[in-house]
Amino acid sequence: MKELKQKIISKKAKIGVIGLGYVGLPLAISFARVGFSVFGLDKNVARVKRIKQGRNYNEDVSIQEISKLLKKKKFSVSSDLSLLSKVDVIFICVPTPLKRKYTPDISYILSSVKTIKEYIKKGTLVILESTTYPGTTEELILPKLQQGGFKAGKDFYLAFSPERIDPGNKKYPVTKIPKIVGGIDKASGVLSKELYKKIIKSVHVVSSPKAAEMVKLLENSFRLVNISWINEVAMMCHKMNVDIWEVIEGAKTKPFGFMPFYPSLGVGGHCIPDDPLYLYWKAKHHGVSSKFIKLSADTNDKVPEYVLHRLKAFLKKNKRPCEKAKILVVGVTYKKDVKDLRRSPALKFLELLKKEKYKVSYFDPLIPYLEIGSFHLKSIKLNEKMLKSADCVIIATQHTGVDYKKILLNSNFVFDLCNVYKGKRSPKLMTL
Ligand SMILES: NC(=O)c1ccc[n+]([C@@H]2O[C@H](COP(=O)([O-])OP(=O)(O)OC[C@H]3O[C@@H](n4cnc5c(N)ncnc54)[C@H](O)[C@@H]3O)[C@@H](O)[C@H]2O)c1
Repeated sequence: MKELKQKIISKKAKIGVIGLGYVGLPLAISFARVGFSVFGLDKNVARVKRIKQGRNYNEDVSIQEISKLLKKKKFSVSSDLSLLSKVDVIFICVPTPLKRKYTPDISYILSSVKTIKEYIKKGTLVILESTTYPGTTEELILPKLQQGGFKAGKDFYLAFSPERIDPGNKKYPVTKIPKIVGGIDKASGVLSKELYKKIIKSVHVVSSPKAAEMVKLLENSFRLVNISWINEVAMMCHKMNVDIWEVIEGAKTKPFGFMPFYPSLGVGGHCIPDDPLYLYWKAKHHGVSSKFIKLSADTNDKVPEYVLHRLKAFLKKNKRPCEKAKILVVGVTYKKDVKDLRRSPALKFLELLKKEKYKVSYFDPLIPYLEIGSFHLKSIKLNEKMLKSADCVIIATQHTGVDYKKILLNSNFVFDLCNVYKGKRSPKLMTL
């Protein structure tokens, strides 16, 4: 342990990051930036090539910085996972999706652990950053790494530290978000803390990996439950003819005991829709059926149908054709200013529109081309002609730089799901 600690303190420890996605790439760059030698490893050859060529897909790291670190040889990228045999620290940052609703798919973690087992050298620290259910590190990873007589605490160290990054959030990049760490033993906790302190000011150590796994799921379930709740409140407010956005602004003035959440088309991305279901699944194995998680997941899943229902009523009220109406959806990513379509509720909404035989088009400055099942769409040019030809424009996701004034000015009707027209009243405008 002493040797590795010394290497970490002197930044001589070599780091390997498995998975160069939204989580792994910014983490790898953060360590390379402060002087560590980092190997970024990803089995996706195309992604590796893109990073090497300085073609970025991730808003949270700059191409210039990647190129600079590649040139300085502080950072290298490869699909050759045998490079793990050269490192002192391994981060696992692979996806944790669902196999089906309420059932985790931890196959990416398992395959990474299998590879690690093949190449790990004595004295390595392994840290899992992927979000997963409580118990994964100790019940799954630990026994696999110990196979063949490799001893935890002597031959290797192991910890879980959830990544809490919020893609696109410029105020809180990975280095400004306090880090939670749970080691399988004291040495693993101490080494992990020492390491993270090189890039993050505040590191909070909890008593076990399980506690750290639970911290992450508490945070994400908290968001899911509250987003679902505010979506339900929005439905109530609509029926009562109260402006939900005005209500939230009012409630926000309370300096304690309230935190604003906003209505939307639902939740998306790789975290909020799926992570709480990992907890739901694990809790069920302990005989606890989480009504909150299930209700929240189901409530959010239904928002696109609710929005469609509101759209139909709006078209009817304004004497627009319901049959085959032309609907233009503006913004299709799962969140503002982020080029990520994973689990975006806008995709589900587009599918619903298609199913109901609407003539659908979309505009998103970040997504030039879209494939949903068997149908393919190209982002349209947002000009007067296109806007005028649509029976209704739906603002599904807000993005910086989109000319919302022009949209309202030139459209027949607008259904604003994001409150981009805050406080504006117009007979051609409807809000959630
Ligand atoms: N995206 C987020 O906002 C976010 C935030 C916090 C935590 N997380 C969690 O972090 C984890 C990673 O998420 P992400 O968004 O970075 O995923 P991602 O899909 O963007 O990236 C994962 C990368 O891992 C690679 N990969 C998969 N299996 C591999 C293997 N066996 N060996 C080498 N590379 C492999 C993939 O090719 C991919 O490039 C997930 O558990 C997620 O829940 C994500």
